[in-house]
Formats: sequence, structure tokens, C-alpha cells
Amino acid sequence: MLDILVLAAGKGTRMRSDLPKVLHPVGGKALVQHVADTARAVGGEQILIIVGHGAEKVQEKMAAPDVKFVLQAEQLGTGHAVQQALPQLRNDATVLILYGDVPLTRAETLQKLIAGVNDKQMGLLTVDLPDPTGYGRIVRDEKNAVVAIVEHKDADDEQKKIREINTGIMAVKAAHLQKWLPQLKNNNAQGEYYLTDIIAMAKADNIAIHVEQPNAVEEVEGINNRQQQAALERFYQKQKANELMVAGVTLLDPSRIDVRGNLSAGRDVVIDVNCVFEGDVVLGDGVIIEPNCVIINSKIGNNTRIKAYSHIEEAVMAADCDIGPYARLRPGTDLADEVKIGNFVETKKAVIAKGSKVNHLSYVGDAKVGSKVNVGAGTITCNYDGVNKFKTEIGDNAFIGSNSALIAPVKIGAGATVGAGSVITRDVEDAELAVGRGKQRNIQGWERPKKH
Ligand code: UD1
Ligand code: CA
Repeated sequence: MLDILVLAAGKGTRMRSDLPKVLHPVGGKALVQHVADTARAVGGEQILIIVGHGAEKVQEKMAAPDVKFVLQAEQLGTGHAVQQALPQLRNDATVLILYGDVPLTRAETLQKLIAGVNDKQMGLLTVDLPDPTGYGRIVRDEKNAVVAIVEHKDADDEQKKIREINTGIMAVKAAHLQKWLPQLKNNNAQGEYYLTDIIAMAKADNIAIHVEQPNAVEEVEGINNRQQQAALERFYQKQKANELMVAGVTLLDPSRIDVRGNLSAGRDVVIDVNCVFEGDVVLGDGVIIEPNCVIINSKIGNNTRIKAYSHIEEAVMAADCDIGPYARLRPGTDLADEVKIGNFVETKKAVIAKGSKVNHLSYVGDAKVGSKVNVGAGTITCNYDGVNKFKTEIGDNAFIGSNSALIAPVKIGAGATVGAGSVITRDVEDAELAVGRGKQRNIQGWERPKKH
């Protein structure tokens, strides 16, 4: 039985932000959301988030069936924070204590910590730092057993030399917390109720301290300012890039990709530099993404190529499509196999069948386009009258001449042709030619104006 406490009441003054610190993102996801997801991954049945500063915003963002919020109106220390949650803890639960501003702890590390908890033992996550300044020091006895944590501000010169520090992350039986926390005192340098004082209480009660350490120090690093946020963002992106390469993706430069969500890729996918992936993106086998593309919540079929500088959001492409450079696929774009979308083309709610081409400078919105259609340069589906939106339908094998305006609602039949420069206001039947433009007049003997 596992209860998880997430301390998230602090102010985060050094972020200099209107947003509560724990709602700032790493990898496109709020810090405290990372922590809650990890809590679920380790099997936390009840997640108790201690809120204080910005409580309303945190509650709004983090509301979920397995989450409860506990208000710590005044921040009187980490021990005080945990005290607020005591009434919510289940008596025979193991309690894991996490921090809303420490986002990247691995579930595996926490599993090992929890595995060391029983009626005779509690778990403590520590790390050795080259510069331990500011942190609580781990004090061990001659048998190397942990006997206390001393905060930096309370430490003597000898204790200040200790490089093993408290990460703050602990796992302990609820019954032990129920016994120890009411005994905390605030007679220390900061006048706070220190959670760390329970270590000495454990020692006094013959409860052993089982110590675990993380694989990487970034797993236990908290975020207090924008520099630390940026540093963890880079660490996170490095991990993501590494996972992709392990899965068989070629990254031309693993330090120049950003994944803010879930990116899954098939075999032999190549991603060139400076691409950003947001939300859920799925790439099929053999997909090539050229430099400087932004791809959001989209699915890209096998062997499709996304050329440089394309922006793709909530779009689906089947196999062998050729997109960009400089294409903008907006939500509701759904392309069948072998569709070609060229430079400076914008699509929105556009369903385009196999083998059709929209090669240059067009807007295709609220449209259903058949197969093997050629949409000439500069074609616009005029889908909006300023109030309502209307649909354009184009049949198989139709040919739309360049610079045509298709005034929706309108249907162009299969095999129909639209002359270049037409303004089409009426439906065109199958195989017809429609020309809707002013007739050309050539005037002989015309003279240019002369300067007075
Ligand atoms: C704490 C530990 C220290 C450890 C360090 C690791 C204590 C007494 N000290 O020190 O041993 O090395 O973390 O970073 O626990 N919080 C609340 N309510 C409060 C106080 C804090 O929610 O009343 C939250 C803060 O928002 C923060 C976290 O708890 O996320 C840690 O609090 P902070 O005051 O930063 O503790 P440190 O002094 O850094
Ligand atoms: Ca801190």
C-alpha cells in the first residue's frame, strides 16, 4: 500500500514569475506533472499534493481521481508540510515523499528506495556532491550507519565537510510518521520544522536507515531559477535523443532536437537538425524529417518526407507523401498515399486522396479533394464569407489552373478543368472546362501616357 506525498507549497521567488514554480515546464510538461506521473509509475494509489503558493492554479492543473490536495497555508518547513497530510495517510501505508520541483527522478530509483522500507527500516535517497553547500548533510556513525541529517545552516565546520547530502526524498511507514512528526521542534537556525529531524528520531527508535543513490545527480535536482530549469531541460532532451537513437532513429545532431511529448518512430527514420516535436507524434518506417520542422500531434506514414521549414499540427499523412519545404499543414489535414504538398501551401480540414498535388502557394481548407488532382499555383478555396464556413469538393483527376479562386460551397467534377485565373462560383460538372475570367482584349495603336 503506497501513499505518495508531493511537497509543492513553496513560492519559487527566484523564477520571477506569475506562474507557480511547480507549473513551469520541462520537456513541455509541468514539473509537478512529471512528479505525479512518476508517482503513478511506482504504484502510488493515493497522491497527496501539498499546496500553498498558487494553490488554486496547481489544483486546477493537477486535478485527477487519484490526487488529493492538502493546503499548507503557511510554509513553516518541510516537516510542517508533511504534518498537514498526516490525517490523510492510511495507517499501514508506506509513504514516499517527493517534491513538486524535482521532476526527473527515475521510477526505478524510487522502487529500490521503497523496497527498503518495513517496520524496522526507512529509506533515504542521498547523493555525493563536489560542492554540498546549502544542503542537509548525511551524518554517519563509526559503523557507517546514518544517524542524522544536519542542515547546512546548523552544521559545524566538520559536518560542513561532508559531501553526502540529503536529496529530501524519503520513504517511510505511515505509522512512523504519525509517531515522529508531532515531536518536531523548530529550535534551529531557520526556525523551521525540519522533516530531516525524523532521521535522528528513527535512530533513537532503532529504525535503520536504508540508503539509495540515483544513477545521475539530475534525478534529484530541484528547480529554483530559470538557469536550473534550462539545465534540466537539456538533460531531459539528451535522454530523449538517446532513447530515440537506441530505438534506431538517426539524429543528425542529438543536441539539436526537442521532444515535448511522446515521439515514436519506426525503422530507419532520419531526423535532421532543429526539429521540435510536441504532443503525440508517430513517424512510420523510413520517414525523413529535414531541418527546422515543427510537428505537433501528428501521424506521418511510411517513407513520407517532410522537407525543411514545415509546420505540421494535428495532421495525418499516409505513405510516400512529399511535404514542403515551407508547408503548413493545419488541424484536420488528412493526406492519402503519395500526396504532394509544396512550398507555401496551407491546408486545413483538407482530405486529399491518393497521388494529388498542391505544389505551390495555395490555401486548401474545408475541402475534399479526389485522387490524381492537380491544384495549380496560387489556388485558393474561398471557404469563409466572414460569418460561415463552406466546403469545396474536387473530383478525381480534376485540373485546377493556377490562380483560381473556388468560392465555396462549390463542386468541381471528376476530370473537370478550371482555366487559370478563374473565379468559380458555380459547380462544374465532370469533364467540363470552366473558365471564369475577364476576356482578354488587345488594343492596337494604343499609346503610353507621356510626361507633362
Ligand atoms: C531541504 C532539506 C535538505 C535537503 C534539500 C534538498 C529540510 C529541512 N531540508 O532543504 O536537507 O538537502 O531540501 O533540496 O527538509 N516546502 C513546502 N512547505 C514548506 C517548506 C518547503 O512545501 O513549508 C517545499 C518547497 O516548496 C520545496 C521543498 O519543500 O519544494 C524543499 O524546501 P526548501 O525550503 O527548499 O528546503 P531546503 O532548505 O532546500
Ligand atoms: Ca531547496
